[in-house]
Amino acid sequence: MIITESMGIMDYSLLDSGAGEKLERFGDYTLIRPCSQAIWSKDASKAELWKNAHASFNRKQGLNWQGRDRLPSNWVIQINSVHMKLSTTDFGHIGIFPETIQLWDAIQAKIKTANAKRTQPLKFLNLFAYSGGATMAAAHAGAHCCHVDASKGMVQWARDNAEINGLSEHPIRWIVDDVNKFLQREIRRGHRYDGILLDPPSFGRGKSGELYKIEHAMLETIDNVKRVLSDPFAFVYLTSHTPGLTPTVLSNLLKKMGKNGNITSGEMLLISTDTDSTQAQTLNIPNGTWACLDNV
Ligand SMILES: C[S@@+](CC[C@H](N)C(=O)[O-])C[C@H]1O[C@@H](n2cnc3c(N)ncnc32)[C@H](O)[C@@H]1O
Repeated sequence: MIITESMGIMDYSLLDSGAGEKLERFGDYTLIRPCSQAIWSKDASKAELWKNAHASFNRKQGLNWQGRDRLPSNWVIQINSVHMKLSTTDFGHIGIFPETIQLWDAIQAKIKTANAKRTQPLKFLNLFAYSGGATMAAAHAGAHCCHVDASKGMVQWARDNAEINGLSEHPIRWIVDDVNKFLQREIRRGHRYDGILLDPPSFGRGKSGELYKIEHAMLETIDNVKRVLSDPFAFVYLTSHTPGLTPTVLSNLLKKMGKNGNITSGEMLLISTDTDSTQAQTLNIPNGTWACLDNV
């Protein structure tokens, strides 16, 4: 993915990876977490950085954090215009998927370009929206947003992020619901969106425990997305972390929507932004795929 915004404040960096682990910096704290893609060896010159990590998470005997007590209960980092509250969860997540950072930049650029040609702000729909990084990015770029996630706790986390970002009064609809149920309702009500991001999980649960298995539910989601797109629309971003859903597979799914627009695709990457030239160059790590159907 091309980085479209100039790099500004960046409190995230991938410092090193190897032997099935990654070492990342989130503001003042460095964390070691599992990374199955990192089948290469660690950089020997970074041994001190690994040794001095504040905390590490592994799945060796159940789900385990070490050094969690060396981290605050939550802390805030800044990624360009977006502020995110981070906190360790029992599953090793911390409230951000850093491979989506470049996506936030790309979405912001598209919204700004689209809004410059429009009289009404672009309406952005974020599906499976988690802690709302993309919602914050879109809102900062001037879009009116709708944020959908089945987890009440995650929607509250995203609302906390909106407050931290000074976006409490910004037009953002917060929806706790199963994505397909929500989309069916929007279709019936005639609500339409100009820009949509969907990141269907391999496996998830709706608000009332409905099972979401990508192989059964995603085609329905994509069909519903097609029906809530405005005419003309600006963009649809489809992302995935499911093995086998390569950039070409995601492009094909967007082509099958039968809508006009350019299709591009690629890998999502964890990237190093540390500029310390004394360190050997850090390898980027592929972490998921994206495809975009675009009329901007
Ligand atoms: C991997 S996260 C998505 C990451 C997010 N797009 C981001 O970039 O930060 C998956 C999210 O989907 C939500 N989810 C899972 N099944 C769902 C469903 N059926 N309807 C709505 N949300 C669901 C989960 O609560 C979780 O927050």
